[in-house]
Formats: sequence, C-alpha cells, structure tokens
Amino acid sequence: MHSFEDLAGQFKAYFDVAHFPAHPASLYEPNNYFLSLGGKRVRPVMCLMGNELFDEIQPDAWLVATAIELFHNFTLIHDDIMDKAPLRRGLATVHTKYGEPTAILAGDVMLVVAYDYLNKVTHPNQKKLVRIFNKTAREVCEGQQLDMDFEKVPTVHMNEYLRMIELKTSVLLASTLQMGALLGGAGEGNQYNIYEFGKNLGIAFQIQDDYLDAFGDPAKVGKQPGGDILANKKTFLLIKALETATGAQLKQLQELLATNPADKVTQVLAIFKSCGVHDWALELKNKYVSNALKHLEDIAVVSVRKKALQELTAFLVQRDY
Ligand code: IPE
Ligand code: IPE
Ligand code: MG
Ligand code: MG
Ligand code: MG
Repeated sequence: MHSFEDLAGQFKAYFDVAHFPAHPASLYEPNNYFLSLGGKRVRPVMCLMGNELFDEIQPDAWLVATAIELFHNFTLIHDDIMDKAPLRRGLATVHTKYGEPTAILAGDVMLVVAYDYLNKVTHPNQKKLVRIFNKTAREVCEGQQLDMDFEKVPTVHMNEYLRMIELKTSVLLASTLQMGALLGGAGEGNQYNIYEFGKNLGIAFQIQDDYLDAFGDPAKVGKQPGGDILANKKTFLLIKALETATGAQLKQLQELLATNPADKVTQVLAIFKSCGVHDWALELKNKYVSNALKHLEDIAVVSVRKKALQELTAFLVQRDY
C-alpha cells in the first residue's frame, strides 16, 4: 500500500510526458503550459488508491488516472473562463495568457486526448468505465451551469448549494475511486461504498475550496483572493452569512452584492467572520467527513488496507492549498 506522496510522485513520473503534438504550437503550447503548473494530482492518486484497495495497481489504472487528470485540467481551463479568474496555481490562467478562443479550444482538445487514454484500456470492463466517465462528465457540466445560475439570484438554499457542489466537484472524486476499484476487481457493493465515500469526501473538499477562496493564504492557494466574493458565488459562506446577518449588517451585505465597491472583498470577509462562518465550515466539513468514513468502513476489505484513504481524507479537508 502506498501513501499519497508516494503515489503522487509515481503518477507525476508517469504523467510528465508529451500528451500533445508540437504543431500547431498556438493550440498545444497553452495545454503544456497549464499541465506544467502541476496541481495536487488528487484525482489520479484516488484512482490508484481505489485500485490498490483491492489489488496490486493494474497497468490500466495509470491510463484511467491520466484520462481523469486530463479531464480535470480541461474543466479548470474552462472554469477559469466562466469564473473570469486571472490566476491559477500561482500563475496566469490560460485564457488570460492566450485569449479566450484558444483557451476554449485547448480545453476541448485536452478532453479529446483524455478519451484517447480511456480508449487504450484493455480491461473487460472498459465500456463500463466509459459509461461512468461520461455520466460524471455530464454531471460536472450540470453542476458548473448551476454554479453560474446561482451567481445571478439573490439567495440559494443550502441544499441547492450542496447539490451543486456534489455535481461540479464531488462526483469526479467519487467516480475516480470507483473506476480504480472496478479495475481492482471490486464487486458492486464495494463499488457503491467507495463511490459514496468519495462523494461525501468530495463535498467536504469543495467546502474547503470555498473556505480557502475567502480565507486562504493567496501565496499558497495560488488563486485571486476573494474571487468567489467578487463573482457573487453562492458558496456556503455567503449562504450562511445571508441567513445569519440581520438589520444593518444584512442590508450592508445585500448592498455589497449589488454594487461591487472597490473594497468589496474586505467588507464581505468582515461580515463572514462576524457571522461565525469559521465554525460553520468546520461543522459542515466534519459532517461529510464522518459520512465518508462510514462508507469507507463498510467496504469489505481488511482495515489496514484503508489507511491511505483515511490519511487522504484528513489531508484533503485540512489542506491550505
Ligand atoms: C480545483 O481542484 C477545482 C475544484 C474542484 C475545487 P484542485 O484543488 O484539485 O486543483 P489542482 O489540480 O490541485 O490545482
Ligand atoms: C470548480 O469549482 C469545479 C470545476 C472545475 C468543475 P471552483 O470554481 O470553485 O474551482 P476553483 O476554485 O476555480 O479551483
Ligand atoms: Mg473557479
Ligand atoms: Mg467555478
Ligand atoms: Mg473555488
């Protein structure tokens, strides 16, 4: 059994090859630029861990992990266009550096190359893997659209937010684990439990992402500080603050959302703090982590094999980048 660091290192060595031809450089150079910025490689490692929970890591698992990481990077390139984000992983986003039309196409071709890797899988369940992959990809699109729709409405219910982050983020963490498990020979019950583990962990992961967008150290997070606040994203922080604030403070918050003053981020952060969103974040994350761990317990393999996934859980929800 391997740790996160170990598998992330092994995956980096496997993944750091040319995925794209040289020409036209105006299309492929942006993708090479983006991939060279790295990232945590959480999803491919989860695929490998899902596999290793049941068996030795199969050659096909590296192909699926690669397809998933390429898919994830494609979603980020397009997400940064949708979110008008100038920074990612500490450097300029693809559309900022190369323009929106190129960023759209660079993302598209990255998705196509992801399918090339899936197509190389020789496992008898290859078609099932593609079905899981496609279901997930469709759900990510649905979640991303809801995320944008919610920017334009004054309030969103906590349950609508949770469903939105389940779609845009957590189903990918869930299915990467499931695909790895399937390659490791997991039966239906174990696939269900590992998927549900990943889904609950993915919700806690996005809660942490939203928390870091507001309160993280920009030097570590590598994104524009307060980007979600500037875009009126209906994160749990804003939902909770709109629920908790009363009187003059509620009026101030509503005005900030409507008028976008220069010091919007500072003012909104102060309101978040005074509404107690720190405690709320912890409570919400803990709820989903404990749901996740229950499903991990229910997976029918000896508990020593689960250590890597338990450690990963702690890392993902406490991370500061
Ligand atoms: C960012 O994912 C997008 C979300 C779903 C929150 P990561 O935080 O895994 O991004 P990288 O790949 O490590 O940069
Ligand atoms: C992104 O959510 C989810 C997907 C890319 C599908 P965010 O918009 O919060 O991710 P970051 O914060 O830009 O990484
Ligand atoms: Mg974004
Ligand atoms: Mg987004
Ligand atoms: Mg975010």
